[in-house]
Parts: sequence; C-alpha cells; structure tokens
Amino acid sequence: MKAAVLTKFGKPENAFEIKEVPNPTINNGQVLIETEGFGLNYADIMAVQGDYEDCPPLPAIIGYDVVGRIKETKGDVGDLKIGDRVTALTRFGGYAEFVAAESSGCAKIKEEVLTGKAMALTTQYSTAYYCINEVANCKKGDKVLIQAAAGGVGTALVQMALKIGCEVFGTCGSAEKIEYLKEMGVHHPINYKTQDFFEIIKKEVGDYGLDAVFDAIGGSSAKKGFKLLGSGGTLVLYGAASMTDTNIFGKLGMVAGFGLYHPVQFMMSSKGIVGVNMLRIGDDRPHVLKRCLTAVVSMLDENKIDPKISKVFKIEQLVEALNYLKDRKSMGKVSVLWKY
Ligand SMILES: NC(=O)c1ccc[n+]([C@@H]2O[C@H](COP(=O)([O-])OP(=O)(O)OC[C@H]3O[C@@H](n4cnc5c(N)ncnc54)[C@H](OP(=O)(O)O)[C@@H]3O)[C@@H](O)[C@H]2O)c1
Repeated sequence: MKAAVLTKFGKPENAFEIKEVPNPTINNGQVLIETEGFGLNYADIMAVQGDYEDCPPLPAIIGYDVVGRIKETKGDVGDLKIGDRVTALTRFGGYAEFVAAESSGCAKIKEEVLTGKAMALTTQYSTAYYCINEVANCKKGDKVLIQAAAGGVGTALVQMALKIGCEVFGTCGSAEKIEYLKEMGVHHPINYKTQDFFEIIKKEVGDYGLDAVFDAIGGSSAKKGFKLLGSGGTLVLYGAASMTDTNIFGKLGMVAGFGLYHPVQFMMSSKGIVGVNMLRIGDDRPHVLKRCLTAVVSMLDENKIDPKISKVFKIEQLVEALNYLKDRKSMGKVSVLWKY
C-alpha cells in the first residue's frame, strides 16, 4: 500500500515521503480499512514540527482519522462486518491506504455522507461531544466561551453548544472567520486580534461569569478563561496550539502564562479545570470513545450537526494541506484523498 511517511521533523515540505510500505496486520478486536482518505488535525502540525510527545519515533505514519471500507475483521468486532463504510479513529497510521483500527474507534456511516464531512466526526466531533456533554455537562442557558471557534473542534463545539441552547461567545483570528461564526449563529463572535476578548466578555457576563470555557490555545488564554468563569464553572483544557508558533523561550512563556493554581482555590471558588486527551480516553476507556462516536454519528443522521468541509486536497497536495491548516486558513475540516 501507499503511505505518507513522516521521516523528518520540521517544515511539511521536507518532512514526508509518499512510498510503498507493507499493509498493516490486525489483532483481535480490530478491523482493516481500505481508506478513501484521511483527515488532518492540529496535532499533526505539532507532530510534524516535533512538538508532540505522543508522536511515535520516526519514520512514522501519523494521522488520527480515516473514512473507508472494512476489508478484514479479527475476533469480536461487534456489529461491524466486511464491506461496511466506516469513519474510524486511528492511533496514528491514518496517512495510509490501509489502516488497522480498534472496533471501538469505528462507526458505520451512510453511503451518501461526503468523505470530508464524515472525516470530522471521529477526532474533532467526538472530542467536542466529550468536552461539552461529558466534562462540562452544559445545559440550556449556559454561557460558554469557545476559543478558536472557527477551527475543526471549535466548529463542532459551536454547533453542539447552540443545539443545547447555550449562549455562545466564540473567538477567532480573522474577519473572514468572524463571518463564518456569524453564519453558524454564534451570539458573540470576537476577533481576538482586534478586540480584547476578556474585557468584552467580562462586561457582558459581569460577576455571574461563564459556565464553561473550551480552550485549546493554552497559556495566558487559558488563564483569562479561568478568570471569566463563574461559580460552578469549568475550564476544559484540551490543547496548547500556542506552543507551535514560537521558540523555546516562547514555549516557556506559554507554560508560565497558564499561571499557578492551588486545589483549595478550586474548592473555595467552586470552579475547576479539566484536561482532556482523547488518546488517553480511547486507550483506557474505549467504551467512552465508542459512546461519543456513536452519539455524533446519530446527531449527523438526525441533522443535529453539520460538519463543515474547509477544503479537500489530493494526496499530491499533502504539503499544501498541512500548510493550509498550520497557517490558520481553515474553517472546519481539512482532509486528503487517495482517490478522487
Ligand atoms: N485533547 C484532545 O484530545 C484533542 C483532540 C482534538 C484536537 N485537540 C486540539 O484542539 C485544537 C484544535 O484542533 P483542530 O484540529 O480542530 O485544529 P483547528 O482548530 O482547525 O486549527 C487550529 C486553530 O487554532 C487557532 N489558533 C489559536 N492560536 C493559535 C496559535 N498560536 N497557533 C496556531 N493556531 C492557533 C487558529 O484559529 P484562529 O485563526 O481563529 O486563531 C487555528 O486555525 C488543537 O490545539 C488540537 O491539538 C485536542
């Protein structure tokens, strides 16, 4: 099979070789999928730069989500069978024509669902579902802040928060993205490059504060988000994108920017911070991942969510696709196809 193999950390232009490699073999409980393509995630950008500690040693095939058809199964794989079209979460290995996936990380999808939409479900929508429903437990009327709201996970969080009936504050970094947030129905779209999101939200919510903040930027952004929370509020911290566009001193500054916290402070203010890493959830609580994935596929079937396709690239355009995501041009999901 062909795979895009990460051979060198650095710029996407010099990092990959697309070459023939042996097909993966599957273990009990796994399925072999012939893929239509794979989705890009911001963690891929971090992995290519050498900033992602979970990345396997090089040479490595990275990639978390694929859409394709099951070619082989082994052992108990639940209701999955050969020929099913599925969206699947892979623990790396996704940038390839064939992947081995745990059955708990797969969900059947209808034939008519566009590949680019289905691709968003596994990592980005499952993460958003877990963060908003299982961690923050958001309810109708809650006031929530979604940072990087025009991104892949951001779009998913916005759609789910609006469906629940939350009042949504969403930040982004360009005028074009502001329009995108308005189209989705975000109540308070904020361009953090030209506006002070902290002051705007503080003025709007006063001492009552926010019920939930979703942050994957990290550093001072997370610290400000925590300050904006009211009693009973939760900061869901699920990434640190701000560590990618800086040097070692910037990275140290980013870590310091988070601030220092003492557990008593959480108790006294009745506020909390919860970290989310879906890889850990998938490894240690596969049933939770399955529950989230099943839920988002049902939401798609019931038209409760509508994953946005930012752009679909051909495999020959992999570098362009990665730079498009890295340069913050995307709104919604970016994916790459093997056949088109
Ligand atoms: N913990 C988990 O299990 C998990 C799972 C999935 C994703 N994530 C994390 O969630 C975040 C979003 O992932 P995604 O794949 O959906 O990507 P994405 O949001 O589509 O793309 C990243 C966006 O982050 C914003 N951003 C803000 N500050 C940034 C900075 N300093 N450098 C680069 N981008 C910055 C940019 O939007 P603006 O132009 O609007 O600033 C950019 O478009 C990532 O941090 C990712 O690692 C975590």
